Amino acid sequence: MHIAITGAAGFLGQRLVQQLIASGELRQQPITRLTLLDQVEAPLPENPGSILVMSIALDITAPGALECVLEQRPDVIYHLAAVVSSAAEADLELGMRVNFDATRALLEGCRVQELTGTRLVMASSVAAYGGELPDVLNDMTALHPENSYGAQKAMCELLINDYSRRGLIDGLVLRLPTIVIRPGRPNAAASSFASSILREPLNGEAAVCPVPTDLAMFVMSPGKVVDALLHGAEVPGEALTPFRAFMLPGITVTVAEMLEALHEAAGEPARSRVRHEPDPRIEAIVASWPARFETTKARQLGFVGDDSFKQIVDAFMSECGHKRVNA
Ligand SMILES: NC(=O)c1ccc[n+]([C@@H]2O[C@H](COP(=O)([O-])OP(=O)(O)OC[C@H]3O[C@@H](n4cnc5c(N)ncnc54)[C@H](O)[C@@H]3O)[C@@H](O)[C@H]2O)c1
Repeated sequence: MHIAITGAAGFLGQRLVQQLIASGELRQQPITRLTLLDQVEAPLPENPGSILVMSIALDITAPGALECVLEQRPDVIYHLAAVVSSAAEADLELGMRVNFDATRALLEGCRVQELTGTRLVMASSVAAYGGELPDVLNDMTALHPENSYGAQKAMCELLINDYSRRGLIDGLVLRLPTIVIRPGRPNAAASSFASSILREPLNGEAAVCPVPTDLAMFVMSPGKVVDALLHGAEVPGEALTPFRAFMLPGITVTVAEMLEALHEAAGEPARSRVRHEPDPRIEAIVASWPARFETTKARQLGFVGDDSFKQIVDAFMSECGHKRVNA
């Protein structure tokens, strides 16, 4: 089993690589090769065992960039390379090239190489939704994105669905809830604050909350998202039709509830490290993302979410070696 990952140096890419190495198999077949693709050279895993891991630095927007990999006929391609929300909003041309044109080139490359049995798993986003929405969305809710990132993701969803319908590829698009708590440093995603307001105080640092505390978000932990990416390679193609894009089973939580969970986990000193400084630009983007979903299709297909926000906080704290104040 040969697996290729675009965006392999990124946050999800790196966690996915670790999980694939740890499990050693996918679709009940041993993983023999992993090809890591990113504009920066993705770090090689420390103990790959018998898996041959190659890390290739390439710009997926360069003409023919992916040919050398597609010629090797990977069994599964995880397409995670992207320019995230704020960056795609700030630079339309860059967002279009990376988020849309490169996905189209990838699909065309698969068509030319006749990779009809290759499972392509792409990460889409809650940002693909927007406009006038019902209180609770479901998998049939139309996509009317209100930002360029969401529009680019929505266009990719349609393309992957159509290439799959034509039998040119075996595609699957997972709409990811906002991922919290992301370790590391803040990034250019509009949702970056949702991790910062928990991660920084838990690490003894100050954080800024740019949105009102009654804002609700649809969230999932990094661990459950990576589990879903793995499961995305396993689901049979016949079970996915007619539309191969759907929302993963996140949970709905308000910013106030997130801060309350922080307070419960680490006490008042941690909670008081969060300052409230409204940023209308961030609020406008994040408030356009819906927060309540029926995720029937994902659940029927065996995707599993977090039980509670407390579980998300606990998972992060245990990963970082933090102890709850009331433990
Ligand atoms: N993290 C989240 O909350 C979230 C939510 C919804 C969807 N997603 C999607 O999941 C995927 C992975 O997200 P992430 O959080 O790991 O993002 P990330 O920014 O950490 O990783 C993206 C990677 O893509 C690479 N990349 C960007 N442009 C490239 C180019 N031209 N050529 C080659 N590589 C390029 C970057 O170098 C980076 O390593 C993305 O498609 C993102 O849109 C993430």
